[in-house]
Amino acid sequence: MKKKDLISITDYTKEEYLRIMELAREFENEPNQDVLKGKVVASLFFEPSTRTRLSFETAISRLGGRIVGFADPDSSSATKGETLHDTIKMVSNYADLIVMRHPLEGAARYAAEVSSVPVLNAGDGANQHPTQTLLDMYSILKTQKTFDNLNIFMVGDLKYGRTVHSLLQAMSEFENPIFNFIAPEVLRMPETYKLHLKDKGIKYFEHEEFTDIINEADIIYMTRVQKERFSDPIEYEKVKNIYILQNSMLKNTKSNVRVLHPLPRVNEISTDVDKNEKAYYFEQARNGVFTRQAIIAHTMNLK
Ligand code: CP
Repeated sequence: MKKKDLISITDYTKEEYLRIMELAREFENEPNQDVLKGKVVASLFFEPSTRTRLSFETAISRLGGRIVGFADPDSSSATKGETLHDTIKMVSNYADLIVMRHPLEGAARYAAEVSSVPVLNAGDGANQHPTQTLLDMYSILKTQKTFDNLNIFMVGDLKYGRTVHSLLQAMSEFENPIFNFIAPEVLRMPETYKLHLKDKGIKYFEHEEFTDIINEADIIYMTRVQKERFSDPIEYEKVKNIYILQNSMLKNTKSNVRVLHPLPRVNEISTDVDKNEKAYYFEQARNGVFTRQAIIAHTMNLK
């Protein structure tokens, strides 16, 4: 049977998105299930992570699997000049599944081509972060009870933000979404994603401010301006604090609106938002464990 990698969110069909939602709900109801017993998962993080790595490792532990790998590439033989090709060849001899984060766009697809075992992309540069998208979708479904007819605001770094790229593609599979992109000129949503929406006849609007339209939103998806993606630090300084969501801005928003953020946040959501019932980002991160259990179970045909 062909191995089932998850490199881009478009590797899954709409039916698979819905299957992951169903499985995530099952794992949320019953998190400890030994379906991965006897299997080894390699967790290879060539870039820093808190949530993705730890929620994957929690998911694997709750499924009864074992974890090998590294959180810091400086502790691997990559520092001696070993290529990604050779690293993946080796690791696929040891493990039944590879979870990998890498700073280079396309590295996850390359790893999947080299590997004899399935590869899950835990983020590749500014490209894709599909497992984040599936947990974002699970968070949207839990809070909105539907994927249809949602007005989705994406705010901040839409150029380098891999989470918004994957989420846009996934949500465009559902009925009648509207996208509002709020970004400064230098961080606008790339043309390729806007073309994707145009091809599907989906409405989108671009803005540099959002205080006057925030009350139309069902989802406000905040993102961090990612210092590590800028080659010029002066350009980063100009835009780093461009959007800061304050609690007062949510006063007249829709009752169903939820504020999501893949995290980590820096300044883009004021801490006074945290206690607002419309803030959902910490719960969203918690949903990452159930969703990643679902992705692993689906990938390994455990259910
Ligand atoms: N959302 C996310 O990818 O967070 P980490 O960088 O902490 O994994």
